[in-house]
Amino acid sequence: MQKPKHHIFVCSSSRPNGQQKGFCHSKNSVDIMMKFMEGIEERDIGGEVFLSNTGCFGICEKGPVVVVYPENVWYGSVTPDDVEEILDSHIEGGTIVERLVI
Ligand code: FES
Repeated sequence: MQKPKHHIFVCSSSRPNGQQKGFCHSKNSVDIMMKFMEGIEERDIGGEVFLSNTGCFGICEKGPVVVVYPENVWYGSVTPDDVEEILDSHIEGGTIVERLVI
């Protein structure tokens, strides 16, 4: 298996028991996840970009939270409408979306 160039983590407030409860989930993290899935597929970059939903990052007040590695960039208050910009600017263009950085 080839390692990805980028790994995007979207907080979905998943709990260890599998339930999704919490701030990011209540603020459209499922829609954010779906937008990333669609955008990655449309761009045909699935071989270079991995997408994972995660549990709480512990900074719920700044959620919904999206973390991108290997840059270790943390984005906060992300909306589904921000996903295209993150993919275009950061993932494909190499320029971090500063207005969302926390
Ligand atoms: S639920 Fe997303 S950071 Fe806490």
